[in-house]
Amino acid sequence: MSGLEVASAACIADTMLIAATDIGLASIYLCAFVEGFNAEPNLIKELGLPDGFSPIAGILLGYTDELAVERKLEIKLKVNYK
Ligand SMILES: Cc1cc2nc3c(=O)[nH]c(=O)nc-3n(C[C@H](O)[C@H](O)[C@H](O)COP(=O)(O)O)c2cc1C
Repeated sequence: MSGLEVASAACIADTMLIAATDIGLASIYLCAFVEGFNAEPNLIKELGLPDGFSPIAGILLGYTDELAVERKLEIKLKVNYK
């Protein structure tokens, strides 16, 4: 696997994180779960994913309270407009 696939997946995931924040969902970028797929190859089949599928990036989405969303927006604004 070249670095290009990882870079593309990261860009896609990042866009999904921004979109999730925009609609008020909490989210994080995940990579550690890939180790689980490597250790348990049957997971691909059990989850109904196509043969040959190799996860390299993931996102976790969830509901949060308004304060957490406000905190994330505040952090993003501070980073962007420093
Ligand atoms: C490349 C990369 C991989 C990450 N992988 C994981 C992961 O596997 N598990 C995890 O809990 N957080 C992971 N994180 C961190 C989360 O995406 C998130 O930044 C962190 O949980 C802090 O969230 P917060 O800013 O809402 O507190 C990863 C971050 C990056 C940049």
